[in-house]
Amino acid sequence: MCGIVGYIGSRSAAQICLEGLHRLEYRGYDSAGIAVVRDGELDVRKVVGKLSNMDASLRETALPGTLGIGHTRWATHGKPSVENSHPHVSTNGRIAVVHNGIIENYGELREQLIGEGFVFKSQTDTEVMAHLVEKYYAGDLRVAVVRAVQDLQGAFAFGVICADNPDQLVAVRRFSPLVVGLGEGENYIASDMGAIRQETDRVYVIDDDEVALITREGVELTDLEGNPLEREVFVIPWPADAAEKGPHKKFMHKEIHEQPEAMRACLAGRLSDPDKPLQLDGLNMTEAEIKGLKKVVFTACGTAYHAGLVGRFLMEYLAKIPAECDLAAELRARNPVVLDNTLCVPISQSGETADTLVALRDMKGKGARCVSVLNVVDSSIARESDGAVYIQAGPEIGVASTKAYSLQVMTMTLMALHFAEVRGTADPALLRELKAALLKMPEYAAELLKREDDVIEVAKQYYQLKDAFYLARGVNLPSAMEGALKLKEISYIHAEGYSAGEMKHGPIALVCPELFTVAIAVHGDVYEKMIGNIQEIKARSGPVIGVADDGDDVIGGQADAMIWVPPVPELVSPLTTAIPLQLLAYHMADQRGEDIDQPRNLAKTVTVE
Ligand code: AGP
Repeated sequence: MCGIVGYIGSRSAAQICLEGLHRLEYRGYDSAGIAVVRDGELDVRKVVGKLSNMDASLRETALPGTLGIGHTRWATHGKPSVENSHPHVSTNGRIAVVHNGIIENYGELREQLIGEGFVFKSQTDTEVMAHLVEKYYAGDLRVAVVRAVQDLQGAFAFGVICADNPDQLVAVRRFSPLVVGLGEGENYIASDMGAIRQETDRVYVIDDDEVALITREGVELTDLEGNPLEREVFVIPWPADAAEKGPHKKFMHKEIHEQPEAMRACLAGRLSDPDKPLQLDGLNMTEAEIKGLKKVVFTACGTAYHAGLVGRFLMEYLAKIPAECDLAAELRARNPVVLDNTLCVPISQSGETADTLVALRDMKGKGARCVSVLNVVDSSIARESDGAVYIQAGPEIGVASTKAYSLQVMTMTLMALHFAEVRGTADPALLRELKAALLKMPEYAAELLKREDDVIEVAKQYYQLKDAFYLARGVNLPSAMEGALKLKEISYIHAEGYSAGEMKHGPIALVCPELFTVAIAVHGDVYEKMIGNIQEIKARSGPVIGVADDGDDVIGGQADAMIWVPPVPELVSPLTTAIPLQLLAYHMADQRGEDIDQPRNLAKTVTVE
């Protein structure tokens, strides 16, 4: 997704914008640009490709000025090119805008503006905003921006500057995230807090159809009608270096290794003793409401969806509540029937995924209570939910989600256990066993990370193959699906997560020596059947990487390579199988020399539908 940074103060706007854009690189982009106001003029610099090209350009020719906006573009309308890069400039060359989102009615606006004499230079939807602001500008930039957005349909977060107003930066958003950073004698805007955390830990999170007029002295927040808005300053809870790589080669590697500590943070205040009931803050539900639930619908995208599948399994198995898990885009598409006492659980690391946000709105509109499982506090999804349970993963920068997945799964497990305790629907001995295992999960995670070299050896054996199956059954089927997604999104090896039981219904036709299979066969209800599935693959000369409990000679004797995990109760084994499969994907991609933190075509947060 596109990244936005803006600055007004007494320092170099171009330098601060560039540093902020570097911290937004993980969002994915294909071009970049910066505009500054200096001596009553607008000065714009754009590059195609990586931000290093902008670094070089600014080293060669500086871009002085203390008011500016910067942008990294993830192309939606119009191919990556200098003309299509932001900032876009008005016909008279006085106004520059940067945008994240999609303007749905840009076609008709473009025609209308061309008819009124405005001159377009790009194929983008964004450019209509630059000309609209010029059209409505009569000396007051905020008024012109507000008037312009009232012509727009779709999603947007804008930063706008004008050469005639060297002391003002205007920002406005609808359905795309934007924060205003607060400094001393200087202020900022950014698509997310990580971009400006080095500069400040104090931000305003602005909401849909709210406008910020930002000067060096302060920030005025209003609605589109100009009514002043009061807003609490949000203090970013994590240190500046949390959004830095540190000694790790890639953010993804750092975040995989943060999981033991992150798991402790997720458990803190919720579960401390297996003999005591766990607490789940943020649910905003009474015990009576939990007892009265008739259905739970999990919904999410990508990796978060896989965590939701684990949640669905455990919610039915432990809390005995009928449960579903739908891809957010599909939940909307099927226009679900929502009966009374339905709980919808949107799951989202960023809290900004458009498909998930719209699914939440649909489900609320149909009468469901919505309690979201999130990582980013005060995100768009958080603000529209009836309750929010935070996974406490800290900032996740790598496009491929790792620690957030594990903590989403942990939070799903905590929710199912909590509901089971409240409803009295599970054997207390089983609940105690599962809680005890969860409390040890940080240690298991640390142990699994110590085995990284073993996983590297497996990765070296298979990274040159082009196709893979990830097979499992039951509670680990989502683990297989997630392992496959991790591999394909960063190594570009085609991988499919599949129910092992389904193979004989068609997919086994693909098995051959050039296709490797990762088979998750930890001890539990489906263990025996997984042995049979592994044998079916082997009988067709397909290489098998087994994922099994330490010391399991049965699987070890059948598989061509092994990934060992500490034995835990099967119902919490998605937490132990996740980490080695994250490492396997990471090291296969590393062996292939891929750009792991910024995989091609991908963005960290998908804020468009
Ligand atoms: C996961 O590795 C991907 N980056 C992607 O599938 C992601 O999980 C999905 O876009 C959902 O994002 P969210 O959790 O921020 O809503």
